[in-house]
Amino acid sequence: MSSNPALADKGKLLYENGAKERDVLACIVCHGHDGEGINTNPRLAGQNRDYIVSSILQFRSRLRENKIMQHVTQNLTNDEIAALVEYISTK
Ligand code: HEC
Repeated sequence: MSSNPALADKGKLLYENGAKERDVLACIVCHGHDGEGINTNPRLAGQNRDYIVSSILQFRSRLRENKIMQHVTQNLTNDEIAALVEYISTK
C-alpha cells in the first residue's frame, strides 16, 4: 500500500507504458510485472526505497555505468522519478 495512491498511480502508468515521445522505455518489459526481475534484469520489488532513488539518479547523471539504464532515465523528470519510486515501493 502506498501512502500516496495518486502518485503511485502515476508511477504505475509510467512503469507499464513508458513515455514513447521522450524515449522512456517501459520498465515492465525488463523488470517484470511486479518488479520481480527478468533474467539478468534485476529485481526491483522489495529493494530499499532510497537505494532505488539513488540508483535512478546515478544512472541519469551517468555516475553509474549502464548504457540501457542511462538511456531509460535520461529524460525522466524528478517528479516522474518520485512517482515511479512510489509505485515500485508498493511491490
Ligand atoms: C531494456 C531493459 C530495461 C528497461 C526498459 C528498464 N531497465 Fe532498469 N535495469 C535494466 C538493467 C539491465 C539493469 C542493471 C544495470 C546494472 O547492471 O547496473 C537495470 C537496473 C535498474 C535499477 C537498479 C537496480 C539495482 O539493483 O541496482 C533500477 C532502480 C532500475 N533499473 C529502474 C528502472 C525503471 C524505473 C525503469 C523504467 C523507467 C527501468 N529500470 C527500465 C534494464 C532495464
